[in-house]
Amino acid sequence: MSSEEESPPSSSPTMHFIGKKADIVKAGRVTQRVNGCRDVLVLYHQGQLYALDMICYHTGGPLQNGDIEEFSGRLCIVCPWHKYKITLAEGEGLYQAVDDPTVTPLRTHWRSKGVKQRIHKVTEVSGDVYVTLNDSSEAIESDVYQTEKHRTVSINV
Ligand code: FES
Repeated sequence: MSSEEESPPSSSPTMHFIGKKADIVKAGRVTQRVNGCRDVLVLYHQGQLYALDMICYHTGGPLQNGDIEEFSGRLCIVCPWHKYKITLAEGEGLYQAVDDPTVTPLRTHWRSKGVKQRIHKVTEVSGDVYVTLNDSSEAIESDVYQTEKHRTVSINV
């Protein structure tokens, strides 16, 4: 979910402080264990803040090291391990589909596999950035890597 600005003072117990916006803008991306239970990547890109589970839903790649690219007009983080594309705003996995493999030249289109990576809400209050965890009970594939077994990193990048 992209960032939104709120008027101070409007933080709440569900909003977890990540850092000063100026510091996040300078760093471009930070990782943090939020509420002691979830490793989250917070990104600043083209004037927007985004927050998503840090570990890739596919097989646990480090999204904090991924490039940001646009596919079919949608900003994605590209996992450095197997190049899966994940939209920053929704957490959808994108893939390139072929209309008809018997027709050349091949015609391809970007399609969505649905939401695969859990996206969290980012809020800015007076220059401070907070994340509110998306606690939807609907299972999302990236949840698998938010266990002690799979957590490996919780340091700022
Ligand atoms: Fe991310 Fe495979 S682990 S694409």
